[in-house]
Amino acid sequence: MDDYFAPDPLNDLDFSTRAVRAGTDRTAFGEHGEAMFLTSSFVFDNAAQAAARFGNQDPGYVYSRFTNPTVRQFERRLASLEQGEACIATASGMAAIMTTAMALLKAGDHLVCASAVFGATYQLFNMLERFGISCSYVPLTDLQAWEQAIRPQTRMFYIETPSNPLTEIADLQALAALARSHSISLVVDNCFCTPALQLPLAHGADIVIHSATKYIDGQGRILGGAIVGRRALIHDQILPLMRMTGPTLSAFNAWVLIKGMETLSLRMEQQSEHALTIAHWLQAHPGVARVFYPGLKSHPQHALASAQQRRFGAIVAFEVCGKDDQALREHAWSVIDHCKVISITGNLGDTKSTITHPATTTHGRLTPQARAQAGIGEGLIRLAVGLESPRDVCADLERGFQAMQALLAGRSG
Ligand SMILES: Cc1ncc(COP(=O)(O)O)c(C=O)c1O
Repeated sequence: MDDYFAPDPLNDLDFSTRAVRAGTDRTAFGEHGEAMFLTSSFVFDNAAQAAARFGNQDPGYVYSRFTNPTVRQFERRLASLEQGEACIATASGMAAIMTTAMALLKAGDHLVCASAVFGATYQLFNMLERFGISCSYVPLTDLQAWEQAIRPQTRMFYIETPSNPLTEIADLQALAALARSHSISLVVDNCFCTPALQLPLAHGADIVIHSATKYIDGQGRILGGAIVGRRALIHDQILPLMRMTGPTLSAFNAWVLIKGMETLSLRMEQQSEHALTIAHWLQAHPGVARVFYPGLKSHPQHALASAQQRRFGAIVAFEVCGKDDQALREHAWSVIDHCKVISITGNLGDTKSTITHPATTTHGRLTPQARAQAGIGEGLIRLAVGLESPRDVCADLERGFQAMQALLAGRSG
């Protein structure tokens, strides 16, 4: 094996070419499809070679907890798509976030995180308190609040853009400049856009995180994650942690993700287009109080999203109408429960549309105050738009809205 993190020779080619070809590393058999190396360890010619491999003097493979040829093909392809120098794959998105936090932070440090992020991310950062790392939460779009939250011990800014589930958009360049001026690392979860729609590193972020479980797989099959960034950081800080802690992506899952990346761009385009159609339909619906989708002109950061992203992505959140929390939950659940096409599930990024009630599922473990701070109310529904016809998706939702109207009529009657 040559240098594990050598830049890909295809890095100058177009995105769609790199999505199907970057990172490819053929064996002597000349296979056209990427080979799947289901092996825990690698054999050595002799004891001296084994010693050299273990001691990092010989760059060959040792053990799949930290390096594997199939995983490497995935890592190199994703690094190329994100325009990053290097990538380390992980077993899940949460493994990527935990590994990054462990690599960047130590006891006594402080991080600032956006108040609206995926629920498990929020929980993980709260758990870091046990290790002497504190976390402050600030509104994603309030740059002044980010600046005010900085302490001498602040080492990391953590954001999602668009955020889960409200699709708020961060000004990546402004946040990156603020972070840089205080020697803070900006970590961006690029799960909702993927490199097909947005390149956070090109806007100044230091690290991109992925839950590859979502759009990179794209078909709801496996869990995976990734960390992309500067070679020195990935090589010197992330890789040693992977080696000693083991939140590793399996070769099988890496292979599935390699295949997922080949259609990533097509899916992101098509699903974004469907999402825009559905968001317009929802916006005009009398049962809907508010729609959160960066592609709508009514979205507060529509202009920023237009400048920063290639398309608007496929997550649409919306609030149903209702007079109080009890009615809002009842109405939201009624819309969800009447879906026959859309799947009721917490995952997103699938070709199949999925629907969930964040307040009681993905963000259900947050305290009511934290949920309120994140803007996640009882009437909120998150729809992850897939590849079905938008007409069928809208018809599916309409069944629920009709049931909701019946509830409303019953109450007023
Ligand atoms: C934005 C975001 N980041 C991270 C994660 C965690 O990823 P995983 O489920 O692969 O651990 C999720 C999961 O839903 C997510 O939506």
